[in-house]
Amino acid sequence: MKEQILVTGGTGYIGSHTVVELQQQGYEVVIVDNLSNSRIEVVDQIAAITGTRPAFVNLDLTDSEGVCTFFDNHPEVKAVIHFAASKAVGESVEKPLMYYHNNLFSLINLLDQMHEHVVQHLVFSSSCTVYGQPEALPVKESAPVQKAMSPYGNTKQIAEEIIGDQAQVSMLHAVLLRYFNPIGAHASAKIGELPLGVPNNLVPYITQTAIGLRAQLKVFGDDYPTPDGTPIRDYIHVSDLAKAHVTALQRMLEKNQKENVEIFNIGTGTGYSVLEVIGSFERVSDQKLNYKIVGRRAGDITAVWADTQLANEVLGWKAEKNLDEMMLSAWRWELALAKEKGNL
Ligand code: NAD
Ligand code: WQD
Repeated sequence: MKEQILVTGGTGYIGSHTVVELQQQGYEVVIVDNLSNSRIEVVDQIAAITGTRPAFVNLDLTDSEGVCTFFDNHPEVKAVIHFAASKAVGESVEKPLMYYHNNLFSLINLLDQMHEHVVQHLVFSSSCTVYGQPEALPVKESAPVQKAMSPYGNTKQIAEEIIGDQAQVSMLHAVLLRYFNPIGAHASAKIGELPLGVPNNLVPYITQTAIGLRAQLKVFGDDYPTPDGTPIRDYIHVSDLAKAHVTALQRMLEKNQKENVEIFNIGTGTGYSVLEVIGSFERVSDQKLNYKIVGRRAGDITAVWADTQLANEVLGWKAEKNLDEMMLSAWRWELALAKEKGNL
């Protein structure tokens, strides 16, 4: 057994896939999650995939005493992967204080207690949202961070700064991973994305429409300056993304970092339009999707995809799965959910 790793938000979408990859690489995992956006059954599913049950602690990271007690009780924790956050862009516009409170207090409590308990390694979930609409594509990590389009996006920018400032005055080492658009589900179809209520993101909306939970997908605009008029994103399979965390962790634990805080784009390096994503879904699921073109969604950018050179050459990680594989895994997950609910 390798080192013990704390995974905050480990029952969530990206966290659960990362716990699987960590366990499969021999790490011992402790999950902390308050289950505000995930289900405890995910722990059983992780155990079913890996054969090992991760430890689970139900804790709200905004509770500073609770976080202190957690570290007191877990002296073996060697590093932290911090996923726990609220992530709905629209909700953050309506409830900005809730987002600043949850996302930033959680981080501050964590950094505080990591310092107190001499835990020096952190992998942090950041987002390509920090780039806004970049001037040059593919976007490099050195591109300027632009004014955030939402309180959610702002929490990621502020969090990056907080981590940078803390690393200047402590032994903290951090890797900030800027995810592009994570989609898909584990090959076992035992874990995947579980949107509460109506999904905001494209792929769960597609699969929920195809399974009959939603009447029709609305495609938000086909008048963008792109080849087919719909916006372009860099979709990345969640298991590829999960593996990037293990690689980042190893880099820190093996003391291979060039700087105390490093930033990597985590995407495939290829952009696809909304219509290309729908086309891929129709191909792999062998069915037509019911969709219609409507007006643009406020706040959407035209196009973004990652320059992955740093991730590939410095971090030593590369995405492996293509769009059809991503869409097929997302569809298998939706089918598995429907079977569980007795709808199939
Ligand atoms: P998710 O909602 O599925 O997982 C987050 C988990 O954190 C949930 O299980 C939730 O219950 C938990 N959590 C939230 N607040 C908490 C708190 N105060 N204390 C303890 N647990 C708490 O989200 P996800 O898609 O897995 O995202 C994980 C991280 O990646 C987030 O930081 C998110 O902002 C970031 N991110 C996500 C995307 C994306 O498109 N999914 C893209 C870029 C970055
Ligand atoms: C993708 C494309 C939509 C839904 C968001 C956050 C970002 C990051 C990832 C965390 C866009 C179109 C969508 C629908 C549609 N999260 N679309 N109909 O907007 O790139 O990024 O999630 O950091 O911060 O902003 O992802 O999946 O919402 O949209 O036409 O019902 O699909 O217009 O072009 P987005 P998305």
